[in-house]
Amino acid sequence: MFAPSVYESRRQRLGKEISGGLVLILGNPEVSFNYPANTYHFRQDSNFLYFFGLDHPDLAGVMDIDEGKDYIFGDNVDLDDIIWMGPQPLIKERAAKAGIRNTAPLADLTRVLKEAVQKGRRIHFVPPYRGETYMQLETLLHIPFSEIRANVSEELIRGIVKLRSVKEDVEIVEIEKAVDIAWEMHTTAMKMAKPGIIEREIAGAIEGISLSRGGPVSFPVILSIHGETLHNHYHGNTLREGRMLVVDAGAETPMHYASDITRTVPVGGKFNPRQRDIYEVVLSANMKAIEGVKPGVTNSELHMLAATAIASGLTGLGLMKGDPAEAVSLGAHTMFFPHGLGHMLGLDVHDMEGLGENYVGYDEEVKRSSHFGTAFLRLGRRLKPGFVFTIEPGIYFIPALIDKWKAEGKFKEFINYEKVETFRDFGGIRIEDDVWVTESGFRVLGKPIPKTIAEVESVMQS
Ligand code: GLY
Ligand code: MN
Repeated sequence: MFAPSVYESRRQRLGKEISGGLVLILGNPEVSFNYPANTYHFRQDSNFLYFFGLDHPDLAGVMDIDEGKDYIFGDNVDLDDIIWMGPQPLIKERAAKAGIRNTAPLADLTRVLKEAVQKGRRIHFVPPYRGETYMQLETLLHIPFSEIRANVSEELIRGIVKLRSVKEDVEIVEIEKAVDIAWEMHTTAMKMAKPGIIEREIAGAIEGISLSRGGPVSFPVILSIHGETLHNHYHGNTLREGRMLVVDAGAETPMHYASDITRTVPVGGKFNPRQRDIYEVVLSANMKAIEGVKPGVTNSELHMLAATAIASGLTGLGLMKGDPAEAVSLGAHTMFFPHGLGHMLGLDVHDMEGLGENYVGYDEEVKRSSHFGTAFLRLGRRLKPGFVFTIEPGIYFIPALIDKWKAEGKFKEFINYEKVETFRDFGGIRIEDDVWVTESGFRVLGKPIPKTIAEVESVMQS
């Protein structure tokens, strides 16, 4: 945990964003997977971690905004628990670590909330994302399951997004640790990417690296010689010469901060001319977007900068034609780059996504595009110092999309379908880094992970 003052300060600042009533932030319970006592690896709720810090199941945090008091509700362990789990601190000892003096058994939460509701006080809560939490909210607040989402507090969502979007220095240190674990994962994958190896051998090895550093992976590893499938979790292909291997993987630190890095490497360690051409275009999109990062720029602008670099590069290679800027303004590049430039990163790999993507990534000024591809941009708004987000452009040759657009004659003035046909078997390339917006510009977080063709080939052949 961070020092108690970190959590006290966060709660004080959140309190100023809420007009009154009670803020209820539920910690997560254990969740079973194939029978009740066989549970998934426990993952605490990220909002609970942010404001209350305690990394144990079955706790609830309450902030009484009107009285300025914070509470932890939870039960002390009994002898049975101690026999199975060993000695555990008391709830009041745990709560003190988050700067909280007021604790009570979980059963009291029902009464406290009931009294507040009877007095007409507002109970602020955020959208749940687990069935268990829906049921708990239904029981605690007497709101039917189907009406829970309609009753979430927009004031609380906006307050949390305002705070969690701007990372504190202690958080940057944690995210940087997560990227350093990703450095080990990705350089290991590069060295293992030889013909004859099965994808799962590499996927398992790099997940093991994250576990051995104290946390799980920050999301299920994406690792495939079919990188044209954007989130490919199938790991049964055998690597062979001529394919690019996309590895999109990150670690979670023991404090639960995430990294999210993608590298794409040629199986066998040497780029062929065609791979080299496409790789250089994606790399230039990645670097141009990163170099454009500074406070005040919108991420929509950076997305378009990367899209233009992709359209210009593909035009230079004869895969696109016409004016690249016009092609991008009309969306012709989205056949090759059908996703967004990136997303916020923090305690969640898509940070705060559970609160609602539009609250996190957009605002009154910058609205989400409704166009194919660009609509997937998760972060569009103006960047502020302290934001941490990913920059992850890519180029993909997706046969089903090529066939559809070609049959429709879509953007045929900008896409050279004849040449594209010769790339049907290419796969995809994505390059992703984690970037911190500083007062004057940016810093790419963590130990630099090989990225240029020379760096990648050098590691793969070492
Ligand atoms: N790393 C997977 C994603 O950003 O969606
Ligand atoms: Mn990502």
